[in-house]
Amino acid sequence: MSQLNNISRYFKYYVNAKSAHGVHSPFVYKFVTELLDHYYVDYYQFKELAEIRKALLKNNSVIEVTDFGVGSKVFKDNKRKISDLVKYGTSKTKFSELYFKLVNFTNAQFVVELGTSIGLNTLYLAKANSKSTIYTLEGCPKLAEFSKSLFEKQEIKNIYLINDTFEKAFPKLLNEIPKLDLLYIDGNHNYESTINYFKLGLEKKHNYSVFVFDDINWNTDMQKAWEEIKNHPDVTLSLDLFYAGIIFFRKEQKEKEHFVLKY
Ligand SMILES: C[S@@+](CC[C@H](N)C(=O)[O-])C[C@H]1O[C@@H](n2cnc3c(N)ncnc32)[C@H](O)[C@@H]1O
Repeated sequence: MSQLNNISRYFKYYVNAKSAHGVHSPFVYKFVTELLDHYYVDYYQFKELAEIRKALLKNNSVIEVTDFGVGSKVFKDNKRKISDLVKYGTSKTKFSELYFKLVNFTNAQFVVELGTSIGLNTLYLAKANSKSTIYTLEGCPKLAEFSKSLFEKQEIKNIYLINDTFEKAFPKLLNEIPKLDLLYIDGNHNYESTINYFKLGLEKKHNYSVFVFDDINWNTDMQKAWEEIKNHPDVTLSLDLFYAGIIFFRKEQKEKEHFVLKY
């Protein structure tokens, strides 16, 4: 997608996006006021995580990555500095903090992340609630190795890292976990794969599950996938934050609704 196209899409999003005042659904109002409006609220974990991010941003060691997704818009070869992976291949602080809060907002116990990269966002998910388990999937052996050592250094006990492709490991994992509370899809941004992961996740979802799709405007494939996902009959509520889309299946939500929200 051309940069101009993307800017005009963002402009359209910005003009249409609502704040809490424009929202009538009580559930969405609660979501907006507790998770989006107060993104400046400081949890002590946010300070710790910001320090980890700062240290990783100073880490200039190079690793050789094996690409399992659609490739990068930034990197031209397969050698990556850790600091560059933090800058260009990891969720921004604001979004990782949102996902941290989402774990608690939904009381998620079984969380699956597709796409670990260097493991920074995984740490946010894990530090939200030490009683939940974060299953994170990464195809690249070197990234998995780096993330594993990061989790060990942080003495994190509630992350279960699987070094395999999503295609192999995700269906297997879904058979092993009792339920899927939060699914975060952040890798392999093409239409078929995104729809495939979504459909696999649907088989394990329950009334209070929440699915997050990163980069819904990354390319036209992702935009097409997001349109289809939010229109799926099982989805009762969808939230568009431009850089991410969030869906719910709550049957309490009698009429299907879609919100474009400021964040
Ligand atoms: C955008 S990064 C994940 C970033 C991470 N969630 C964060 O916010 O810090 C996507 C990762 O998914 C991995 N990936 C992409 N497609 C994959 C596939 N089909 N199987 C396994 N891993 C894959 C890539 O190797 C890459 O490290």
